[in-house]
Amino acid sequence: MVATCVFGAQWGDEGKGKVIDILAADAEFVVRYAGGNNAGHTVVIGEQRFALHLLPSGILRQGTRNILGSGVVVDPWHLVQEIAKLRATGIEVVLGKNLFLSMSAHLILPYHRQLDRVFEDLRGKGKIGTTGRGIGPAYMDRASRSGLRLGDLLDPPYLEDRIQAAISEKTFFLGPLDAKELCRELLELSRELKAGICDTGLLLRDALDRDVNVLFEGAQGLMLDVDLGTFPFVTSSSVAIGGVGGGAGVSPRAIDRVIAVAKAYTSRVGEGPFPTELKDERGAFLQKQGHEFGTVTGRPRRCGWFDAVAVRYAVRVTGADTVFLTKLDILSGLSQIKVAVAYEADGREYREFPAGLPGIERLGVRYQQLPGWDEDIGKVRDYDALPEAAKSYVAYLEELLGLPLSMLSVGPGRDQVIHKELA
Ligand code: GDP
Ligand code: IMO
Ligand code: MG
Repeated sequence: MVATCVFGAQWGDEGKGKVIDILAADAEFVVRYAGGNNAGHTVVIGEQRFALHLLPSGILRQGTRNILGSGVVVDPWHLVQEIAKLRATGIEVVLGKNLFLSMSAHLILPYHRQLDRVFEDLRGKGKIGTTGRGIGPAYMDRASRSGLRLGDLLDPPYLEDRIQAAISEKTFFLGPLDAKELCRELLELSRELKAGICDTGLLLRDALDRDVNVLFEGAQGLMLDVDLGTFPFVTSSSVAIGGVGGGAGVSPRAIDRVIAVAKAYTSRVGEGPFPTELKDERGAFLQKQGHEFGTVTGRPRRCGWFDAVAVRYAVRVTGADTVFLTKLDILSGLSQIKVAVAYEADGREYREFPAGLPGIERLGVRYQQLPGWDEDIGKVRDYDALPEAAKSYVAYLEELLGLPLSMLSVGPGRDQVIHKELA
């Protein structure tokens, strides 16, 4: 029985939702520990396609219990809507039964969404291209200690005091705000949510003591991590294994296994450096074949070759045990495939990702070129049945990353997986 952290090793949208859904088949708990409804995790079950933003991807598995941990920022208006939408498709969501919310999780309030837009406008050409969900401003309030938390909803007089204090700060940027109305709306929402608000760290401790499987579901990707990513073009949380302690309320030492999810190529939504980006017809090919449009905002995702420098860095800083490679099927039809093996500038070679270096977008990239394949591999379930060129590609990535690619995904469906070797 293991506690596993699953995180994205690139710039998000690696297919974490699909991976969690598969692993949740025998997990008792699935825990989101960072981010908020900036995430968009897709799970395809038969003909049905679910896009989960805030709810953990285990919610679709009967019998799995799901947690929004202390590190998640929760927009309660969004949460109530997402629950209602899922229920309308026949999925059971019962607070206190299969969904639990940490008392310590911070709230995203309407003024956080407003501020997200204001700050983006002020950044002008340097805008980050955020999802506009209020993520940054909510985490700012957590750091500056003026945020409100889910637990505050359980104590109306306390909630009212906290709102008054928070709003007096915000009027500086946004003009007068109605504290009483905000308090009324939050108390209305809390009628639905409060059955699930509890000490989720305690629930998890019990589960870990009982030796059941627990999955920590990362959102975003390591290259969007506030400390380790391509700052300032990042999100505002610790998205990988480093976020689990504070974000789930359990010791990070409880984690037995770390799975890095990586796409067979790279995509990025929003602004910021992307060394292997393809602005030509090959980028357009990947975008079209891979349906690379944002799950949250619908924006087209920028696409490019697999960047082994970036993923090797993600593996190093997280101590990943294995890689779950997704969307290998999307590469079918390319005559040649490239992989970034190093960056270069002024005669200097960078084999390690220079995370703190300004101007990463100006670095040159050294590629290794490999032969492509034409066959449709969506129905392949046995590694040996893959085209030779696809096997060589996988073997080459393993060599560059120094890790096994133990599972390969060859389509969006639950069953479209090749179990190469289990970590
Ligand atoms: P996440 O944010 O990491 O959960 O990823 P997204 O859901 O935002 O984006 C991944 C997209 O690729 C979704 O539409 C998935 O259904 C789809 N997908 C996942 N794995 C595969 C795969 O192996 N092949 C194909 N063709 N699609 C996949
Ligand atoms: P999942 O979990 C891809 C990007 C945004 C923007 C930057 C900051 O589906 O992989 P934010 O709203 O967080 O302040 O935006 O981060 N971003 C994502 N990109 N996948 C995501 O989540 C993302 N969550 C945030 O596009 O560039
Ligand atoms: Mg996504």
